[in-house]
Amino acid sequence: MPRLLNQVAIITGAGRNIGEAAAKLFAAEGAAVAVVDLDRARAGKVTAAITAAGGRAKSFICDVTQEDQIADTVKSVAQEWGRLDILVNNVAISDNKHLFDITRQEWDRVFAVCLTAPMLFSKYAAKEMIAGGRGGKIVNVSSTSGHYGRPRAIAYTAAKAGVINLTRSLAIQLAPHNIRVNCVVPNKIGSPVGKDEFNPGRKVLNLRNRPGEPIDLARAMLFLVSDDSDFIAGTELFVDGGCAAIMPGSD
Ligand SMILES: NC(=O)c1ccc[n+]([C@@H]2O[C@H](COP(=O)([O-])OP(=O)(O)OC[C@H]3O[C@@H](n4cnc5c(N)ncnc54)[C@H](O)[C@@H]3O)[C@@H](O)[C@H]2O)c1
Repeated sequence: MPRLLNQVAIITGAGRNIGEAAAKLFAAEGAAVAVVDLDRARAGKVTAAITAAGGRAKSFICDVTQEDQIADTVKSVAQEWGRLDILVNNVAISDNKHLFDITRQEWDRVFAVCLTAPMLFSKYAAKEMIAGGRGGKIVNVSSTSGHYGRPRAIAYTAAKAGVINLTRSLAIQLAPHNIRVNCVVPNKIGSPVGKDEFNPGRKVLNLRNRPGEPIDLARAMLFLVSDDSDFIAGTELFVDGGCAAIMPGSD
């Protein structure tokens, strides 16, 4: 029995990598999937692949830095399929900048995409879920970069830390409406954020001795939006091959 039968899911940044894998997996589990991305060609390719495999999907072109586009997207998805059950706040960009290199504008853009967009999407989606009367599930995507400092990516590391506590507050504020909110924490999955190509030489340090793949994250997201995780709320699930369990410098 498909686990998301008749449900409707929004996945942001679903044009490639982790979001793409989640869109395909959720569709294979019976959900109608809104493939939300800024890049029309990427979104179209994912939507076409899902449709060709017999699933239900539609592209929604949206710049998540724009609140009016977020509101329109949520409204259009609910109109298209008559309900909204699931939101995955997957979209992100990184800055890869040092404190002394980053401009205010670059900082603001990373925060707009990585932290403000998940808040706004959650706000509009939760209202739609509440109107539907069936509750819902939201999964945010943080990063091990939200737990540790890095020599680069000053804005990304700060924004991803914000995503973790945003998850907790959302979980508390939306619990009365039967909306469960959780967060996944990836480390070095597929391509680096913002890059097309998978780099097989990318150095990884974890307990599985392999780089993560987008499907690893998609499976964890599926768990968090399915009834199998009914008693799990406001938490973060590390999907990092055990990387965060390793004490730096330990022997
Ligand atoms: N890839 C990793 O190694 C890794 C590690 C830790 C955390 N993560 C997190 O996982 C999530 C997905 O990462 P990924 O590597 O698959 O990302 P990616 O860069 O491969 O894909 C992101 C997608 O978001 C879209 N996008 C970018 N800006 C947008 C905007 N303003 N509006 C709408 N769409 C926009 C892009 O077109 C792209 O299709 C992110 O939250 C990221 O921080 C990834």
